[in-house]
Amino acid sequence: MSRTLVAYFSASGVTKRTAEQLAEAAGADLYEIRPAVPYTQADLNWMDKRSRSSVEMNDRSFRPELADKDADIASYDRIFLGFPIWWYVAPTIINTFLESYDFAGKEIVLFATSGGSGLGKTLQGLAPSCPGADIREGKLLNGNPSADELKKWVENL
Ligand SMILES: Cc1cc2nc3c(=O)[nH]c(=O)nc-3n(C[C@H](O)[C@H](O)[C@H](O)COP(=O)(O)O)c2cc1C
Repeated sequence: MSRTLVAYFSASGVTKRTAEQLAEAAGADLYEIRPAVPYTQADLNWMDKRSRSSVEMNDRSFRPELADKDADIASYDRIFLGFPIWWYVAPTIINTFLESYDFAGKEIVLFATSGGSGLGKTLQGLAPSCPGADIREGKLLNGNPSADELKKWVENL
């Protein structure tokens, strides 16, 4: 079995596609982080202060529930962890995911897609959720990077 996992959350499909390509390039298994309650289009409206994503992201201690807790984290050494940037950081469901498993001794490499923002303080927001893990900032993977680019990135980590 591959010792590398690509775990991702994607609300509208962009990160999903990148995660699939990264898994292919890295020879990794793929795991989708799914919310117990899927985000609707209205939930994702960042211009509406009362939308679900706005309300949740306003409280960084909020932990959206997961649909499943069946990722076999123990079997992997390196976990690529991908998500869309929400309000300049990772959606808090990524904290839920990290807090749901034991990542001690694992290498976690972040990747994200966005409308243009970088990873900002994403790492600082996630590190307390995975004590004992070697968590690395990784890369913003916007613009549909080629298989070659992804392979080079993985090889040089
Ligand atoms: C609630 C919400 C907040 C967002 N905040 C940002 C942001 O701060 N900066 C940015 O560049 N893009 C932001 N975006 C855009 C997403 O990061 C971008 O569209 C991403 O590629 C979507 O990935 P997905 O299809 O995997 O969900 C936001 C999108 C949503 C829904």
